[in-house]
Amino acid sequence: MPGFDYLPRRLRRRRRAKEEKMTFVVTDNCRKCRFTDCVAVCPVDCFHADEEMLYIDPDECIDCGACVPECPVEAIYDESQLPDEHREWIAVNADKSKKLPVINETGDAFPGAEERKKQLGF
Ligand code: SF4
Ligand code: F3S
Repeated sequence: MPGFDYLPRRLRRRRRAKEEKMTFVVTDNCRKCRFTDCVAVCPVDCFHADEEMLYIDPDECIDCGACVPECPVEAIYDESQLPDEHREWIAVNADKSKKLPVINETGDAFPGAEERKKQLGF
C-alpha cells in the first residue's frame, strides 16, 4: 500500500540526514586562550564556555564555517577535516556544550593568552 511505503521512506531520509549532519569542533588550542573572536561571528547560540575554553553544540551549529578563520590559534575545525589526533574533541564538544552555559558575547581573553598563542606558534 502506498501509504505504508511513504512513511518508512520518509523516516529513512530523516535518519540519513541526521547521520550526515556535520558540525564544527573546538580543540585544545582554545584552552587557556579563549579569545572569543569566534563568538562574535557565530550567527546562532552554539558556543558554550567553562573556565578553560569553548565548546560547540553540534545540534545548534549550522555549519556556516564563519568561526574558523576568526580564531587566532586555529582551534576550530570542520568535523570532516579534523586531524585524527583531535577526533576525541567531537565527543567532548557534544558532551560539554550540553552542560555549560551559552556564551554569545565576546570577552577578554585569558591572562597569558598572548603568551600561549606564541607558544602554539601563532
Ligand atoms: Fe557558529 Fe557557524 Fe562556527 Fe557553527 S560553524 S560554531 S554556526 S560560526
Ligand atoms: Fe577559543 Fe579561538 Fe574561539 S581561542 S574562544 S576558539 S577564537
